[in-house]
Amino acid sequence: MKIAILPGDGIGSEIMAEAVKVLQVMELPLTLETAPVGGTAYELHGHPLPPATLALAQAADAVLFGAVGDWKFDKLERQFRPEQAILGLRKHLGLFANFRPAICYPQLTQASSLKPELVAGLDILIIRELTGDIYFGAPRGRRTAVDGHFPGAEEAFDTMRYSRPEIERIAHVAFQAARRRRKKLTSVDKANVLETFQFWKDVVSEVHADYPDVALDHMYVDNAAMQLVKAPKAFDVVVTGNMFGDILSDEAAMLTGSIGMLPSASLDKHNKGLYEPSHGSAPDIAGKGVANPLATILSAAMMLRYSLNQATAADRIESAVQAVLAAGLRTADIWSEGTQRVGTREMGDAVVAALGSSKTAASTAQSMTKT
Ligand code: IPM
Ligand code: MG
Repeated sequence: MKIAILPGDGIGSEIMAEAVKVLQVMELPLTLETAPVGGTAYELHGHPLPPATLALAQAADAVLFGAVGDWKFDKLERQFRPEQAILGLRKHLGLFANFRPAICYPQLTQASSLKPELVAGLDILIIRELTGDIYFGAPRGRRTAVDGHFPGAEEAFDTMRYSRPEIERIAHVAFQAARRRRKKLTSVDKANVLETFQFWKDVVSEVHADYPDVALDHMYVDNAAMQLVKAPKAFDVVVTGNMFGDILSDEAAMLTGSIGMLPSASLDKHNKGLYEPSHGSAPDIAGKGVANPLATILSAAMMLRYSLNQATAADRIESAVQAVLAAGLRTADIWSEGTQRVGTREMGDAVVAALGSSKTAASTAQSMTKT
């Protein structure tokens, strides 16, 4: 099985090095092939998603992605900015279904900005449509306004749109995911204002007929943003469009106190996928060896489970991460009083050590940091 390893920018290469280390000790029949992406690729090849990188991603059985983006590229023309790499991969690989779990690990309840009782045991799944909506809708651009409040003024515009098949396929994915969990699906829209999202709501309701065992409710996006901080545990699976999903998934991730811990998967219709941490490239801490590699390591586990049919290997990695947390190891982002602060590489090494034996994992992880 061939894996495309795309580390990207900022902390991307540091966190990816740890995930690669973990994959390599698993002794699975994997070939890992690395290619540049994002700002790094722009600097090397003049494009954030060079043809060779795209070709590798297309040929691979799965893609493991770090993060892209750096302020130093903000002045570039849009088509050359690092973000275009991930948007291009989503589009060219047809990755329309984005799974963003928000889980509050029991060891990390203190790291949340919400009261521990609100987040303890939190386990929700945001399913974000990833190849449509205002992100990809045409036309878009700048022009001189011919109407509106200021005719004759310079203006910019984007197009929010969804077709029936786009909504149907993500709705099916979401109902099926809810079926494997607590059987509760919340569809988030803005049907009170937007035509696009009235249509979204109608189509999701129609698809519901195929899944009578799943409870469906509808929520406006502003209310959903509020409910997520008020009573996050009331949610099970949330399905929404590209734009609302972008915003709500960051909110959900952050309230777990552990955005540095959260993996994500973006799947096509055959379950081929791109796996990436939910956090960004964090250029402010790049190169300092302090970033949390666990979201990337857990993304690798998710990749083994969903795209490579290696559930046992995925379980092993997830248990190793649990063991390392149980042993009290924390990178700066999840550190709290009474735990032991470690760097990126030490965290990766501890996971590798814990993989050796789940029974002695905790003690091994502990002794790793002493050497
Ligand atoms: C995400 C990111 C991307 C998005 C950016 C980097 C284009 O914020 O994956 O959530 O907006 O989708
Ligand atoms: Mg985002």
